[in-house]
Amino acid sequence: MRICVAGARGMLGQQVVETATAQGHTVLPWVRPDVDITNVESLMEHCAGDKPDAIINCAAWTDVDGAETNIDAAFLSNRTGAGNLAKVAALSGIRLVHISTDFVYPGDVHRPLLETDKTDPQSVYGQSKLAGEVAVLEAYPAAVVIRTGYIFGHHGPNLIDKIANGIKAGYNMPFVTDQWITPTGTPLLADACLHFLASDTSGIYHVTQGGGCSTFEMATFIAEQVNGSGTISSTTLDEWEPVQSARCQAVGRILAKRPVYSVLDTQKFRTKLSIEPLSWQDAIRVHISG
Ligand SMILES: NC(=O)c1ccc[n+]([C@@H]2O[C@H](COP(=O)([O-])OP(=O)(O)OC[C@H]3O[C@@H](n4cnc5c(N)ncnc54)[C@H](OP(=O)(O)O)[C@@H]3O)[C@@H](O)[C@H]2O)c1
Repeated sequence: MRICVAGARGMLGQQVVETATAQGHTVLPWVRPDVDITNVESLMEHCAGDKPDAIINCAAWTDVDGAETNIDAAFLSNRTGAGNLAKVAALSGIRLVHISTDFVYPGDVHRPLLETDKTDPQSVYGQSKLAGEVAVLEAYPAAVVIRTGYIFGHHGPNLIDKIANGIKAGYNMPFVTDQWITPTGTPLLADACLHFLASDTSGIYHVTQGGGCSTFEMATFIAEQVNGSGTISSTTLDEWEPVQSARCQAVGRILAKRPVYSVLDTQKFRTKLSIEPLSWQDAIRVHISG
């Protein structure tokens, strides 16, 4: 396939370019300022020139706290930009995979979430991403929207590396025991995007590694994988949020509300694509050793 990757310079975008190239596809990386997804005319021109069979949208405003004070900019990339790509893909009838987030959920249900569960984003970022999903599927119902969470990979700064480096440097790092996630590697996501392009399915799918954990469990697991004198201590959201909020305020930012529980049920994706993702622990092990 000829595949255009929007946001090809981001953490996931770079992995998608790498994986798609390795699988033998012709990859056309779309990066700003050359291709800005908020400019629909420019997208039309690039699409006409590049003649892709498919587009994968990894472009987004991803500064979660920054979105609280940059509402228009977040919505411009995450809603308008996503919708533009869907319009362009629909016009040419080409496959489109769009990436969304677990932050569309309110986070108040304590069991793995289904694609059909109620959305109610608690942050501007989550609201803008949900608006993007709606814009994509309204313009192009044949598109695939992937909801995922807590991404890590070799092509961008991420919490896994930050914790590993902190342990090596001898820091003590507190993590909460009462917020649940599933850390997800970019290799799995990139592979899932390519499988979706080759499939005939559409609509919303959850894609994450297997299992789920508190951020304290995740950090403790990472600490066990690396050598260093650093330590992980436990805290709770009630204790931690005021500290984080004060830190944000000190630099003129607002701490966005994150879902308390956002482990996603991935059975729909695993059944459709016949992929069995690594557990979050194995994916982190592979990342750290690689
Ligand atoms: N990171 C996570 O933990 C996480 C969790 C759940 C879902 N997601 C979703 O996963 C996707 C990829 O995230 P990521 O972590 O790879 O993000 P990232 O590293 O921040 O990369 C995002 C990329 O999007 C580009 N971009 C932003 N606005 C654009 C626009 N208007 N036109 C063209 N390009 C634009 C940026 O370009 P510049 O390089 O020019 O700034 C950047 O390269 C996003 O949809 C994100 O919402 C991420």
